[in-house]
Amino acid sequence: MRIGVILDWVNPVIGETFRVLSERGVKLDLLRPEERMVDLADLRVENDLYILKSGTELALSVAGALHALGAATLNPYPTVAMMRNKIIVTRMLKEAGVPTPDTYVASDPSDFRPLLEFGPLILKPYRGSRGAGIHIVRKPQELDGLKLDGLMLAQRYHPPDGPDCKIYCIGGRLFGIRRIWPIEKYEDKLGQPFDLSAELRDVALRCGAVFGIDLYGLDTVVSDGRPYVVDVQKFGSYMGVPDAPRVLADYIVAAGTRAMRGELQLSESA
Ligand SMILES: Nc1ncnc2c1ncn2[C@@H]1O[C@H](COP(=O)(O)OP(=O)(O)O)[C@@H](O)[C@H]1O
Ligand SMILES: [Mg+2]
Repeated sequence: MRIGVILDWVNPVIGETFRVLSERGVKLDLLRPEERMVDLADLRVENDLYILKSGTELALSVAGALHALGAATLNPYPTVAMMRNKIIVTRMLKEAGVPTPDTYVASDPSDFRPLLEFGPLILKPYRGSRGAGIHIVRKPQELDGLKLDGLMLAQRYHPPDGPDCKIYCIGGRLFGIRRIWPIEKYEDKLGQPFDLSAELRDVALRCGAVFGIDLYGLDTVVSDGRPYVVDVQKFGSYMGVPDAPRVLADYIVAAGTRAMRGELQLSESA
């Protein structure tokens, strides 16, 4: 089985997953488009399955080109492309009854001013990740001085009762990790595993169902005892998830097997 991985950097969980996959005889083709120029004429489908680990614009575009050439991608490229856009994601989650904060979009952020009468907002770049470009805003004048990172969405800020409740899903198995935000040091990334309540399980499974995927991560903020899903990742970090490399490798081999049978794109886009 040949698996292409489009990536920028490798966290320890992913590094270990690669080791487990190699041990099982999987041939890995690591593509790092940021590090080496890609001649588009040479870009062709050379692997049974492509894993889109990186979220950069370049990685996404290379994956899109491969998808157009018939590659099977994990998660499916069209889904990943949609999930990069927090405006689309938030609306889809709301439609599915997933608790999300009230969210507003405007090309001119001064339009958000009246919303501040009812409490603080958190502004996020609409294609943001890893906490980049996020601002909590309490007063109207703070909106004027902000250095904005392109198109932003404004979300009702729900002061958290504690650390984020991150939820990872690998093939329907759910894992809860409590993690502080923002992280202060690298070890904070590991967080603390916790048992998911029935409510959080239900929320997490509904998020996967919205996008038709079973490999993803969620950031959930619990405020006043109520959970709000604030972010969904197409491929989480899985840091702190017990035994993550083995569970991920099992999942990837199963997906690769389905891709080799030509079943992956069909079942996943259905
Ligand atoms: N509406 C919100 N209310 C309270 N805290 C929030 C809200 N949205 C995000 N946060 C906090 O900000 C962090 C980063 O926001 P997130 O939407 O996950 O952005 P990114 O895609 O950059 O990770 C979250 O992990 C959470 O701790
Ligand atoms: Mg996040």
